[in-house]
Amino acid sequence: MTASSSSKKGPPHPGDQGGGSEKKDAHPLDDFIPRMVTAKQVQAALDGPLNPFNLQPYSAQYKGILRNRKELPAYAQMTEFYEMFTKHQIMIVVGETGSGKTTQIPQLVCYSDLPHSRGKIVACTQPRRIAAMSVAKRVADEMDLTLGKEVGYSVRFDDMTESGTTFLKYMTDGMLLREATNDPDLNCYSTIILDEAHERTLATDILMGLLKGLAKRRPDLRLIITSATLDAQKFQRYFSIRRSSPAPLFKIQGRTHPVEIFYTRYPEPEYFEAAIRTVLMVHRAEDEGDILLFLTGQEEIDDACRKIQIEAEDLLKQDPDAIGPLVCIPLYSSLGPALQARIFDPPPPRKNPKGPAGRKVIVSTNIAETSLTIDGIVYVVDPGFSKQNVYNPRNRVESLLVSPISKASAQQRTGRAGRTKPGKCFRLYTEKDFMKELEDQDHPEILKNKLDSTVLTLVKLGVKDIVRFDYIDAPAPETLMRALEALNYLAALDDEGNLTALGGIMAEFPLDPRLAKTLIVSPDFKCSNEILTIISMLSVQNIWLRPTNQRKEADQAKALLTNPDSDHLTLLNVYNAWVQNSKDPNWSWSNYVSQRSLLEAELARRQLESLMVRFDVDLVSVGYGPKLYQRVREALVCGLFMQVARKEGQEYVTVKDNQKVFLHPSCGLDHTPEWVLFNEFILTTRPYIRTVTAVDPKW
Ligand code: CDP
Ligand code: MG
Repeated sequence: MTASSSSKKGPPHPGDQGGGSEKKDAHPLDDFIPRMVTAKQVQAALDGPLNPFNLQPYSAQYKGILRNRKELPAYAQMTEFYEMFTKHQIMIVVGETGSGKTTQIPQLVCYSDLPHSRGKIVACTQPRRIAAMSVAKRVADEMDLTLGKEVGYSVRFDDMTESGTTFLKYMTDGMLLREATNDPDLNCYSTIILDEAHERTLATDILMGLLKGLAKRRPDLRLIITSATLDAQKFQRYFSIRRSSPAPLFKIQGRTHPVEIFYTRYPEPEYFEAAIRTVLMVHRAEDEGDILLFLTGQEEIDDACRKIQIEAEDLLKQDPDAIGPLVCIPLYSSLGPALQARIFDPPPPRKNPKGPAGRKVIVSTNIAETSLTIDGIVYVVDPGFSKQNVYNPRNRVESLLVSPISKASAQQRTGRAGRTKPGKCFRLYTEKDFMKELEDQDHPEILKNKLDSTVLTLVKLGVKDIVRFDYIDAPAPETLMRALEALNYLAALDDEGNLTALGGIMAEFPLDPRLAKTLIVSPDFKCSNEILTIISMLSVQNIWLRPTNQRKEADQAKALLTNPDSDHLTLLNVYNAWVQNSKDPNWSWSNYVSQRSLLEAELARRQLESLMVRFDVDLVSVGYGPKLYQRVREALVCGLFMQVARKEGQEYVTVKDNQKVFLHPSCGLDHTPEWVLFNEFILTTRPYIRTVTAVDPKW
């Protein structure tokens, strides 16, 4: 029902040239009144000939995707959605993974807010950068618009938006929090959707507190909190207007198929081997359908993909009539966009028309638990572990540990098998362990992470009493005190807890406060150019490649780039050598360093450099030579002085807390200096310090 009369006063539209020229074809949104829009109007606009957001005819691809979208539960409940959205400032949305919360709800909001005609933006936050990037691409396709123009994303070190054009923006929760420190009223946003709130990341938790307050100051702002778990009462209560009236709940009815769960009879001592075995067993014995295997990190995932691929090719050779082809696709957050898009490829085709169907195996971190929906998964293999960040305020140790998942996580993983048809989930643990050993829920990050960076953000936001901030779950006062103390040592806060000028600038950098400080003071040591490179390199993972069959060659190549006194300087060498050899396309490969990681570091470097320009941090260098190396190490001490260890016999002891630690095997030092500073402390088989530099206690 496109409007035929022009008497109704609609909002101005970009396509209208204004004034006299009455168009024959009315604008598809002519009778849309912001926040008074109905499902019927929107459905008509979706089916219309013209895209209301750019006034172009819809493409064939659009029409194809629209047919699929109409199958989604979120589409079916559009009427109910608009009724609630029109009436309430804050609403909670829950629905099974894959029901259309992330892709559909923000689009529905756009039809109601009409942000494109009012110079506003609809934001949808994601805890993970890979999800923000991938979903933005999908939604740009769904809306028949261009990624980076009308629909964009913004994640740390990568901004794919166009100022004045982008009206739907997917972003990490961390980016929105950062924006709030500069514009506490977030005036450019008409609606903010906090997606995946059940993940309870630090940034989402803080945003909930901030936006709850902001909603009172800005009655025009709408908030939607979405969650994949069905226990939404906590959010409803937290966002209640009065004690007696909780925020309204919009429940999307999932259509999931039953999933049969299998446990192991005995505990599996080696979950990695068991996982590979199980994937191959499913491939040999089970009907058509893709497999999703959950592992904990990049190295493990790459390793598993290689092993599964080799074994599957052997099986195929042995029995091509009974076994179909298999492709194994890794999924983790540091993958580039092109590689991550492979998870949506169809499974490989049959080898011959009568042969068995091909199968796709996705080996993923937690990302595939709720953030990214992959259709076609029928089998899930769940070893029951994930990498989790654990912080102990007593000794200030933050460690990334492979730990058992919660019951809630296990249930989410299982659900991934029932998206398209009935599925099976293979849990590589016993039913008894599931019942007895797994916790019900994961703890929110705010209760288990280090809060230095968060506290700096809160202070910058002007929160006077960080202990009494309106947290949905309040962190331990001890953790907050530790953070205040660390920020005071770094001179970001004065003795009264007020933000210093230095602290104000530190908060502008998307870095750990220690590294931010190092960067900001580095011009005093005439080496900010080098510190900038080192910090950019620290922000990316896995610089070194070490293929299983070429370990020796890889180690030799690494040795040539290694600085014997400092892993930090080694990172600097690698980056500079890469830049110097930028004309040689084989350089990174023949030196066993990851081209992708270096490109990412380059991107990070560019973004940090523009922040340095903005905040008058000079880019200077004394030029190459022994003097430079010493200056770099001195500057590092300025920010990382709390992370220094002293040699005691064969091992090291941290100066601040007397923790016994070991140099990580990846460390390139050729001797064991008396004093070292380290970038991180990790606890795996032993307590290790990683990325280490020899220092002089005088500094
Ligand atoms: O957020 P939620 O888990 O509720 O679902 P979603 O991410 O909005 O995904 C809804 C549906 O969109 C999925 O089930 C897929 O069918 C489809 N989708 C897709 O085909 N390709 C993507 N890149 C993302 C979503
Ligand atoms: Mg989602």
